[in-house]
Amino acid sequence: MKRILNHILGIGAGAALFYGCNTAASDDKRAESDPVTFQVNYGEPIAPIQPTMYGIFFEDINFAADGGIYAEMVKNRSFEFDLPMIGWLQPNSDRFSMNEKSGFASVIKTDSDEPNANFLRVEVKADNGYVLRNEGFKGMGVKKDLQYNFSMMARNQSGDIKMHIQLADSTGKVLGKTTIDPDASEWKEYTSSFTATSEEMKAVLNIQFEGKGVIDLDMISLFPSDTWKNRPKGMRADLVQLLDDLDPGFLRFPGGCIVEGRNLARRYQWKKTVGSIEDRTTLVNRWNTEFAHRPAPDYYQSFGLGFFEYFQLAEDMGAEPLPILSCGIACQFNTGELVPMDELGPYVQDALDLIEFANGDSNTAWGKVRADMGHPQPFNMKYIGVGNEQWGPQYIERYKAFEAAIKSKYPDMIIVSGSGPFPDGEMFDYGMKELKKLGAEIIDEHYYRSPEWFLENADRYDSYDRNGPKVFAGEYAAQTVAIASPDNKNSWMTALSEAAFMTGLERNAEVVHLTSYAPLMAHSEGWQWTPDLIWFNNLSSYGTPNYYVQKLFSTNRGTHVLSLTENGKPVTGEKKLYATAAKDENTGEVIFKIVNASSDEQNTQFKLNGIDGLASKGRLTVLKSDKTDVVNSFESPVAIAPEEQEIALKGNELTVNLAPYSLSVIRVKTVVQ
Ligand code: AHR
Repeated sequence: MKRILNHILGIGAGAALFYGCNTAASDDKRAESDPVTFQVNYGEPIAPIQPTMYGIFFEDINFAADGGIYAEMVKNRSFEFDLPMIGWLQPNSDRFSMNEKSGFASVIKTDSDEPNANFLRVEVKADNGYVLRNEGFKGMGVKKDLQYNFSMMARNQSGDIKMHIQLADSTGKVLGKTTIDPDASEWKEYTSSFTATSEEMKAVLNIQFEGKGVIDLDMISLFPSDTWKNRPKGMRADLVQLLDDLDPGFLRFPGGCIVEGRNLARRYQWKKTVGSIEDRTTLVNRWNTEFAHRPAPDYYQSFGLGFFEYFQLAEDMGAEPLPILSCGIACQFNTGELVPMDELGPYVQDALDLIEFANGDSNTAWGKVRADMGHPQPFNMKYIGVGNEQWGPQYIERYKAFEAAIKSKYPDMIIVSGSGPFPDGEMFDYGMKELKKLGAEIIDEHYYRSPEWFLENADRYDSYDRNGPKVFAGEYAAQTVAIASPDNKNSWMTALSEAAFMTGLERNAEVVHLTSYAPLMAHSEGWQWTPDLIWFNNLSSYGTPNYYVQKLFSTNRGTHVLSLTENGKPVTGEKKLYATAAKDENTGEVIFKIVNASSDEQNTQFKLNGIDGLASKGRLTVLKSDKTDVVNSFESPVAIAPEEQEIALKGNELTVNLAPYSLSVIRVKTVVQ
């Protein structure tokens, strides 16, 4: 208790920062230690902090899109998986029998090159005897009293068939139902809604057939009605809300390695992800069999969440869209397949067409596609990424071709290049050297390293050339065990070390323009990669301690970085303290972010010059835990979460006791006459 009181009762010589009125504890504390004193220069900001400073990296890994943020509940709705009945069961039918009693289904593959070539032909032999079941993504999450919207394409071949659509739990109890009576012999869309009567995490969708005959089915779909912004066939609102709460400056999509593909044929091709959803080409997800210890043979991309939806999501959140495209190199950890330079044209054209899709008038070819999808206004895309984390001369060669074509048509487009998968070593050094020679504008750096590395590298950017390329810290996360180890945890220590490192990102806002944690999301039963920022199951979701660190930095960004020093030096780990200061020109506040990575309380004092005083009240938000291995979970989603308090103070100094293992964010209005 004394410890907590000491933390919230920080009192120092001169002006003080304090809460409540219990001064006894603070008096004790004051006697114990002299504060570590920081000098803060409010009057002469070092550099603007870009609005893009803290953003989001979205990749369809860990069932983040299909089975995650994309709220479709039916897996393999269009029978396009390589094994086209994945996700579908026929519980009353013996498909190995020559004499099916109830009925059976077969996938018909048309000869066409159309994106959605397959459909299901169902032959019903026994009235009310045949059931087709979809298992969902690790089941289907169903909420009591919520409306569910069913839709499908159907074509009667013969007979007279009615279809009873039912959500059921594992005991067969029906949780909600409706009936469809297909009446056309040509393809026609049928829709119907119903309300669920109880909650269930692992429901299934049963389609019970009444009557006898033959019917063709496709695009069998079920969505909850409570999607983000209530958009039909939209995104899971709880997951988008968690992203929106981060107030991200940008949204990078669609990855990650998924951009590159394990081979070129399986790279992400944005043109196949726009237009009506039935015309989008399903593709195996590259994380499907990437890790033998986490196989996910049922992991595909329906592209219901495609490039239009990513742009729209960015717009909803007020974030800059930052698409990354294949540069003609498949993932170098897999095949590393290369497009010959004289065949790179279509890849470069994809980039040019994407810019037209995002920004072109609706009378341009690709601008019209966007307008026809319901967004006549441009998305005002300013950034484009060329390649994910490629390395070597092959990358530089291809980057140059993209750069020349993009800049000649769209000189203002800012191009993001990459320095490979590691933050140091041969590949990194080579990429950086070559990209600098080419005058690259922003270079993406990735680091998946230990918490110790993050602490030790809080000064990483202090020595970066202020006149060189800007930095996009595009993928980072502290790993408790090793990169991509299934035993990694989102522990408080990882989050705290990231916070320490992030003080270094912010202190160097002059050179660091964009940053994002990765990966973003993981289904608790479907993940391939850990740690991840947000975890979810079919019904709920929670932010990790790392999420709250991101949120505190992003929602307390400030507009300009200020000099904050101890004895003339930046605060990068001496005494296990890490700190940055910013001003917010819009609110007239000074913002401090301080990490105490030690197991002891630390008394700190901030002396500001360039101001006439501080307001009498401010706010302190703290993330802390005495135990560094604490994690959040479905059972304890806010074991570590920000605690916010009003603080009172006077003068132009403030003193605060920092709790052991804590991140503190202080906002105080300044008085400048
Ligand atoms: O974030 C997971 C993976 O890590 C990304 O797909 C890739 O870019 C990096 O190697």
